Parts: sequence; C-alpha cells; structure tokens
Amino acid sequence: MDLQFSVDAEKCIGCGECAADCPYGIIEMQDERPSMVEDRQQRCIGCQHCLAVCSTGALSIRGLDPGRSIPLAGNLPEAQRLAALMQGRRSVRRYTGEPVSGKEIAFLLDTVAHAPTGVNNRQVLFTVIDDPRVMEDLRRTTYSTLETMIRTGKIPPGMDFFAAMITDAVKNGKDSIFRGAPHLLIVSAPADCPSAGVDCHIALSYFELLAAAMGLGTLWSGLAQWALTRVVPELLGRLGVPESHEVGYMMVFGRPAVTYYRTVQRDNLHVNRVGSLTPV
Ligand SMILES: Cc1cc2nc3c(=O)[nH]c(=O)nc-3n(C[C@H](O)[C@H](O)[C@H](O)COP(=O)(O)O)c2cc1C
Repeated sequence: MDLQFSVDAEKCIGCGECAADCPYGIIEMQDERPSMVEDRQQRCIGCQHCLAVCSTGALSIRGLDPGRSIPLAGNLPEAQRLAALMQGRRSVRRYTGEPVSGKEIAFLLDTVAHAPTGVNNRQVLFTVIDDPRVMEDLRRTTYSTLETMIRTGKIPPGMDFFAAMITDAVKNGKDSIFRGAPHLLIVSAPADCPSAGVDCHIALSYFELLAAAMGLGTLWSGLAQWALTRVVPELLGRLGVPESHEVGYMMVFGRPAVTYYRTVQRDNLHVNRVGSLTPV
C-alpha cells in the first residue's frame, strides 16, 4: 500500500510529534526527519493525526494537502458558547415544512463525516430524504402499512401502541412518528463493523448539534426507528438501506416552527466518582 507519505524538508522542524502521535507506530524519526517504518505501513488506519499534529504543515499523507485543512487557531468556539449550544439544543416536534437547502444538508453531512468511528472504520451510511415530497410519500406509506398490519392482526407483539397513533393521524392529522418534518436521516453501518451502532449514534449526535447551531430542528425518532425496523422493514429496502446494515437510529429534521429562549435546568447528573477500588 502506497500511503503517499511526504515531508517538505524546508518546512519540517524535526519536532517528532508526527511519530509520537501515530497510534500504530508507523512513523519513525531518522536524522530528525520523519519517515515510514517499511513493514508497518499496512497498519495505517488513515486517521491523519500525523497531518493534523504537524505545526508547520510540512507533512502530507495519502496525497492530502495540509493547506486544505481548516486551521484550528482562532477557529474554535469558546467552551461556554458550546456549552450553551449543548444545553440549549431541544427536541423539535414542530416544523414549518419549508425544506432545508441541499447546500445546508451537504454542509451538515460533510462535517458529520468527521465524527469518530471505531478503528477509524468510517463505514457509516447516511440515508437522507432531501425532498419533502419523498418524505410525504414515506409518511403516507408508513401510516397506511401500519394501519393494514393492525387491521389484519399482523402487527408484531409489543408494537400495538401504534394503533392509537394511527387513529390520531386519521382523525386529527397528527403525525406522531415523523412530527411533520420535511426530512429524515437514517444512519446505518455494516453490521460487521467493529462498533456499528455506536458509530451511528455519535454521527447523529454531531448532526444534531451542528443543525442546532444552524438554527435547524432535529428529533431522534424512536417511533420511526421502531416503525421502520420492526414493523415495516421492507420500507428500509425501498429507501436503499442495505440489508447487511445495522440501523443505528433515525432523526427527523427541518426548520423549526418553535423558538426556545432559554436552556432547561437539569439536576439529575449521576456520577460514580471512584476514589479507590473496593476490596475484593
Ligand atoms: C434515542 C431517543 C429516541 C427518541 N424518540 C423520540 C420519539 O420517538 N418521539 C419524540 O417525540 N421524542 C423522542 N425523543 C426525544 C426525547 O423525548 C427528548 O430528548 C427528551 O424529552 C428531552 O427533551 P430535549 O431533547 O428537548 O432535551 C427521543 C430521544 C432519544 C435520545
């Protein structure tokens, strides 16, 4: 495997940070210059820590130009602001229906692609409904399939709570499953990934926070997850989610028809602070 590892000799200051930070010991310092350890290259997981940790931008791997990375100095949010975002983010259950632009969705997904994955596996698949008309189609199909399954007694055990929601949808036009959102994001990963489910959850958490920073609303939808994975899984196939995938979770999103003015106040932090090991 050619990792296209190169070091600009004029920029390299020989600090050795790239070698020290490589999680698999693939880089070594020789005469104060980094180089690849020949027989370890296949261990590279593509994390690019070597590129990120180089203070002078001297190092390139996999043909990447360090000049195209975002410099971190001066570009990071202040901790208090990030804390306000994390505490101020809400589950949004009311949407205007106005679509989120393709540009915004692309920005969200491109950024979320930076979320960590086990062994830097990066196999997470983002199945997105960009077009509100497709979302409407999915909404209709989901409710009508659920209704048929309930009527014909085919609803799986434990899923009969959907009956009340179908009645509410028919009588009052209430969409408890997708909350009337114009978009849906389904995050899945090949079931044999080292940490498929966790990778998906991390990606969705990143998505949720960035969306909140952009003034968008999101909702983790357990009801959509149950409906589409346990009751009508054939719909997942029609949405292009591979059968070999573990579906991590689903999130609806869109422009909120609600504004929150302050954070909520939570006092239920559970911490088990370990002072010493209990005797065996
Ligand atoms: C895994 C998960 C599944 C959820 N599923 C639903 C759901 O199906 N419907 C819903 O209205 N809210 C759902 N929620 C939202 C929670 O009810 C919400 O996070 C909680 O009430 C706290 O509100 P907040 O997110 O605004 O702080 C879900 C949240 C999580 C984390």
